[in-house]
Amino acid sequence: MKLFLDSAITKDIIDRHKTGLIAGVTTNPTLIKKSGDNPLNVYKKLIDAGIHDISMEVVGETEREFFERGVTLYKEYGEYATIKLPCCIEALKACKRLSDLNVRTNVTLVFSPAQAILASLAGATYISPFIGRMDDNSLDGMKLINDISNALTGNTKILAASIRDPQSVGAAFSLGAHICTVPVEVFDKMYNHVLTDKGIEQFNLDSYG
Ligand code: E4P
Repeated sequence: MKLFLDSAITKDIIDRHKTGLIAGVTTNPTLIKKSGDNPLNVYKKLIDAGIHDISMEVVGETEREFFERGVTLYKEYGEYATIKLPCCIEALKACKRLSDLNVRTNVTLVFSPAQAILASLAGATYISPFIGRMDDNSLDGMKLINDISNALTGNTKILAASIRDPQSVGAAFSLGAHICTVPVEVFDKMYNHVLTDKGIEQFNLDSYG
């Protein structure tokens, strides 16, 4: 069981990483655009902060583009880089080649067990099913995690993504996710429980001395 942060705002990530509870970071072009920074700065700052597993997304149209852009990132960032590829045929071919070179990969935008199976056969280190976007479209994101978990054999890890609330983290792990990647707002909410706050207040009041 591991928790990643799904963000490209380096200040927020580094602050939460100091808790010692965060094992990696997932980014995507939209998150990087929102951060106002450029991808290379973002990766460099995260690496300097000691984050060892950073999903760096590549875009492209052909196997060659996906593969070459992945290799470029791997050459630059080495073991820190997880090459994130969308679940389409050209990117899956590139994923297979990158996996054969022992480069870590994350196949993203997974919305069906069939896609997860192909990504796993392509040697993906991680597959990212998008729970929130399924739910946004009246589909059952948690069922997808369960179905993928039942279908997959082998070493590919299920990285539950597009998570919108802390309850989904518990549910995804209990249905077979190995990793959940969460926005910082969700991570912050995971600490909190009204009954814990109430209990702490009472224990503080009652404590001897
Ligand atoms: C996953 O790796 C993606 O970056 C992310 O979880 C997408 O989440 P969203 O649906 O909230 O954009």
